[in-house]
Amino acid sequence: MSKHFKRYTITSALPYANGAIHVGHLAGVYVPADIYARYLRSIGEEVVFIGGSDEHGVPITIKARQEGITPQEIVDRYHAIIEKSFAEFGISFDVYSRTSKAIHHQTAAGFFKKLYDDGKFIEKTTEQYYDEEAKQFLADRYITGTCPHCHNEGAYGDQCESCGTSLNAMDLINPKSVLSGNAPVLRETNHWYLPLDQYEKWLTEWIIEGHKEWKSNVYGQCKSWIDLGLQPRAVTRDLDWGVKVPLPDAEGKVLYVWFDAPIGYISATKEWAEKTGKDWEIFWKNDESKLVHFIGKDNIVFHCIIFPAMLKAEGSYILPENVPANEFLNLENDKISTSRNWAVWLHEYLDEFPNKQDVLRYALSANAPETKDNNFTWKDFQDRNNNELLAIFGNFINRTVVLAHKYFEGNVPEPTVWNDEDKAVIEELRLFPEKIGKSIENYRFREGLNEMMNLARLGNKYLTDQEPWKKFKTDIERTKTILNLSLQICANLSILCEPFLPFTSKKLCRILNMEPQTWKQAGDCNLLKTGHHLNEAEFLFEKIEDEAIENQVKKLQLCKD
Ligand code: 2FM
Ligand code: ZN
Repeated sequence: MSKHFKRYTITSALPYANGAIHVGHLAGVYVPADIYARYLRSIGEEVVFIGGSDEHGVPITIKARQEGITPQEIVDRYHAIIEKSFAEFGISFDVYSRTSKAIHHQTAAGFFKKLYDDGKFIEKTTEQYYDEEAKQFLADRYITGTCPHCHNEGAYGDQCESCGTSLNAMDLINPKSVLSGNAPVLRETNHWYLPLDQYEKWLTEWIIEGHKEWKSNVYGQCKSWIDLGLQPRAVTRDLDWGVKVPLPDAEGKVLYVWFDAPIGYISATKEWAEKTGKDWEIFWKNDESKLVHFIGKDNIVFHCIIFPAMLKAEGSYILPENVPANEFLNLENDKISTSRNWAVWLHEYLDEFPNKQDVLRYALSANAPETKDNNFTWKDFQDRNNNELLAIFGNFINRTVVLAHKYFEGNVPEPTVWNDEDKAVIEELRLFPEKIGKSIENYRFREGLNEMMNLARLGNKYLTDQEPWKKFKTDIERTKTILNLSLQICANLSILCEPFLPFTSKKLCRILNMEPQTWKQAGDCNLLKTGHHLNEAEFLFEKIEDEAIENQVKKLQLCKD
């Protein structure tokens, strides 16, 4: 028996505020998280769905330097772009916050201070590269030099982009500071470390023994990290952009971005609670609250090992019940890359496909990289729209509503006699809410989406088989029953498609002239009462022509040339 929870704390990875959002982000994290949150709300659960921008870290300071503006200006710009994209795609956050807010600085600093006071850190002095002219310690990305493996002269202190090897700044031959161009010197600095080695036994029990139900990609990654042996991790850095280390003698030091970012989930919950009059603590400190982190696979170690160890060290927090991380989404058979502009950016998509948010949500969910890396192609996007959304879902709704107007002046006809075929459809219909719900609860969103489409398929087939257009003249009673049942299926679809296709659901409710209903009402064949008046039919989807697709492929190709 799985445990019943009273409320849900759903987090989605906080994107770095140094770039816009692309289809990979949406498919891997935000659409699945949104489906989950919308479904839970529909079944009547109490939910807080958290998002926000991750506004600290070295890459943001580098970008600011390159553009000659402040890091704050960089994050202000991208936070606005990101927040707008999420809103436009219907990602139904209860709060979308940002880690440069005062509430976050207080929360993260307070969290650090509690761990410090409780003696949970170790302090170590090490030698780090220092730029004497710029008078500052150098983060790995601020040092370039020759790669010891492939001799590329422009390798960074953390990685050589030419041969892909992860590096240590100390490995570079002829290191140079990006700030002054001078050779850096080694200087002693002290930092605070979370001794992850001390949590190894507990992590083994908690994940390896206690969470065998986690997705195999997530479980496997955790297991290999733990098997390799965990080391103390520094949680502070010498940098002037971030949450200041709340200790005396810590001038010029900030919390490591991966220490403060996940605490951002907590700060965002506080912000939401202040606005809504809710109690944030119950969502984080009560064991009847279910914490679920939606992330991409590159974030697994931080959410399954480091953040839980932080929460455990603090002592008063619940731990994630699940971390349904996704693999990566490729684009036209190639890795998505921001620097090569090999991406589909959300804001550009909407310029080219206005009001087609649900088509992208659908194509991405149908292709979600749930168990392995997956591929988005424009051709598949077109096929999903033309052959599935339009040909099945849209076609069924449209035919039903048009016929109801044609034969019954847009009023829901009274069903009189149900034959065996009707009864079989009614029986099948009853099962959908639970089937789709189970898939969503088990983080199998593709499966849930496919089930939802099976209901549209069922409706489409029923209407085609029953041919009310042939019966209207000879058998009006039968025509009434067929159209009544078809309309009930339409009404059910408006509920069951909502987590996946929220814009379509809304439009469908408008066509059916019905208020949005909850999941508990689905499965029923009396959602639309006899005599209820429908609004005029509108097309839910329209054909996407080859030309539009060719344009997108050409646009991408330009990045390769
Ligand atoms: O990988 C990333 O984009 C990170 N900014 C995710 C942070 S998730 C959380 F910890 F805030
Ligand atoms: Zn190299």
